Amino acid sequence: MRIDILTLFPQMFQGPFSESIFQRAVDRRLVAVNIHNIRDYTHDKHRTVDDYAYGGGAGMVIKAEPVFEAVESIKSEAYPEQGGRKELPVILLTPQGRLFCQKIAEELSGHSHLILICGRYEGIDERVREHLVTDEVSIGDYVLSGGELAAMVLADVVVRLLPGVLGSEDSARDDSHTTGLLEYPQYTRPEVYRGWSVPEVLLSGNHAQIARWRRQQAILRTLERRPELLDKASLGVEERTLVGRLKKSQSTGGGDK
Ligand code: ADE
Repeated sequence: MRIDILTLFPQMFQGPFSESIFQRAVDRRLVAVNIHNIRDYTHDKHRTVDDYAYGGGAGMVIKAEPVFEAVESIKSEAYPEQGGRKELPVILLTPQGRLFCQKIAEELSGHSHLILICGRYEGIDERVREHLVTDEVSIGDYVLSGGELAAMVLADVVVRLLPGVLGSEDSARDDSHTTGLLEYPQYTRPEVYRGWSVPEVLLSGNHAQIARWRRQQAILRTLERRPELLDKASLGVEERTLVGRLKKSQSTGGGDK
């Protein structure tokens, strides 16, 4: 996969993409990330990227021209044989976008090329939204200083889904949200720490029992913390019955776990 990120603050991307799983994916050539400074696509002496809002009001608005030129230049370089006319997701990170989740990440991981545009200041010229961008994504109902952190979050979540990025030892299969459930509790050595013991079943060596315990814990944890996720999770008949029983005992104040 190739990811091109347009930003006014390219230095912000230096740390997060050069560590751990992401860097390994880059080293293995499973992903290539290019950071572009929107300012490099201006033509005036002051390299102007923003301007006052028509109609007045506080704050500056990112100009359409450098953003259009950046995207067009990336596409022309990447797809010369099509004259740069290639359909691919051009995503604006904005609090007004559709709310990012694992399902959207899975959808985006199926594309071979993404272009991410990081907004800043009070906004971006609406013509970018109308005529250049194909998708708008928000990472949560809060306002960041800009789209940079959101672009990093999106890229991180998408890249770890690419085939070959995670080894079998840290597979995404059991991740919270991949299964539609939150993850079960994990323990490592020592067996007893400050008097707190690892649950007996995990030491039993009985894989079927361990799998059943983990599944139950995941369901229980989801019910306690994010009950709304259970409506969409794929549960077996017995598991649905268990959830029904637990919900009932919750509502009647019972302590049934
Ligand atoms: N830019 C500012 N806030 C944002 C958010 N919550 N998600 C994506 N981009 C943003």
